[in-house]
Amino acid sequence: MSRPLLEIKDLHIGIVRRHGNDEIVRGVDIAVGPGEKLGIVGESGSGKTLTMLAVLRLLASPPLAVLRGEILLDGEDLAHVDDKRLRTVRGGEIAVVYQDPMSSLNPLMPVGRQVEEALKAHGATQGFASERTREVLRQVGLADPERVRVSYPHQLSGGMIQRVMIAMALATSPRVLIADEPTTALDVTIQRQILELVSSLQATTGMAVLWVTHDLGVVASLVDYVAVMYAGRVVEKATTSQLFERPTHPYTKALLASLPGKDSAHRSRLHQIGGTPPDPTRLGVGCPFRVRCPYAEEKCAQEEPALLDRGRGSFAACWKDPSQW
Ligand SMILES: Nc1ncnc2c1ncn2[C@@H]1O[C@H](COP(=O)(O)OP(=O)(O)OP(=O)(O)O)[C@@H](O)[C@H]1O
Ligand code: SF4
Ligand SMILES: [Mg+2]
Repeated sequence: MSRPLLEIKDLHIGIVRRHGNDEIVRGVDIAVGPGEKLGIVGESGSGKTLTMLAVLRLLASPPLAVLRGEILLDGEDLAHVDDKRLRTVRGGEIAVVYQDPMSSLNPLMPVGRQVEEALKAHGATQGFASERTREVLRQVGLADPERVRVSYPHQLSGGMIQRVMIAMALATSPRVLIADEPTTALDVTIQRQILELVSSLQATTGMAVLWVTHDLGVVASLVDYVAVMYAGRVVEKATTSQLFERPTHPYTKALLASLPGKDSAHRSRLHQIGGTPPDPTRLGVGCPFRVRCPYAEEKCAQEEPALLDRGRGSFAACWKDPSQW
């Protein structure tokens, strides 16, 4: 990997209580370099959105807070920048496409105006904002960008809204794009199309992309690296090809097994893996995956494994080597 543009180091997020904290995100390390794409995959509740919100200091605080760790944008520690700098970073240098696009748009304003307003909030003149809005709406592959520009959100389909959100995110030419995928609003075909679109635009800008999803199938072949999250931790991290060819964590293996054939339009969801994800605040000791893991042994109930190098670009938090599965 080239020098990271965005680096999340040993991030711990928790619910702050009077008598001790409940940790939800427990030591996440993630890095993405210029021009690279990283997929973050995990079931509902694994801590993906909280991790992304922490990057921009947008956690609902209280009760949530970053308990420990660092978030570095090109080496700059975002925990300690002043409000003015933070406003420049948010939406300017790091753009986020939120999980629920409908709730991030104003229903009473044409979408083109909303893109213009976002640009003006980052110092653009009206003239530049309106030119740039037309340009990005064209770039995101909308069939009739002029019509979309003057439409209200309710007049557009889910796929069109998603493209508008990407246009809005790209308008300020961010260095980092974070997309937190909607879970149910869009089908995976649209998700893949949007990610393909972002990849093609990324080639000319060198932007770093973090793509958060439930569905490993969406990021397959479209990202360079994948981080798999489970119960608030990254349990496997690898290049995409390694992860698909040679998973080194049983959870990843189960995720891969739950993907139907490549041609299926109806991919299964991660929760088709037997059992349910644990409550991150009630983990106890041991490996959090143990109750669902077919390879669990005594040690797994006693101590949580650290994320260790498994060679060939793979890291996994598991006591067992894949050769023992
Ligand atoms: N404001 C909050 N107060 C208390 N707990 C919260 C809060 N927000 C999230 N949580 C808890 O933190 C955990 C992680 O939530 P998060 O939203 O990061 O999950 P996620 O991986 O993004 O899930 P999904 O795929 O459903 O979006 C969940 O167990 C959730 O219940
Ligand atoms: S540490 Fe044990 S329970 Fe956890 S994933 Fe590995 S084998 Fe399964
Ligand atoms: Mg989420």
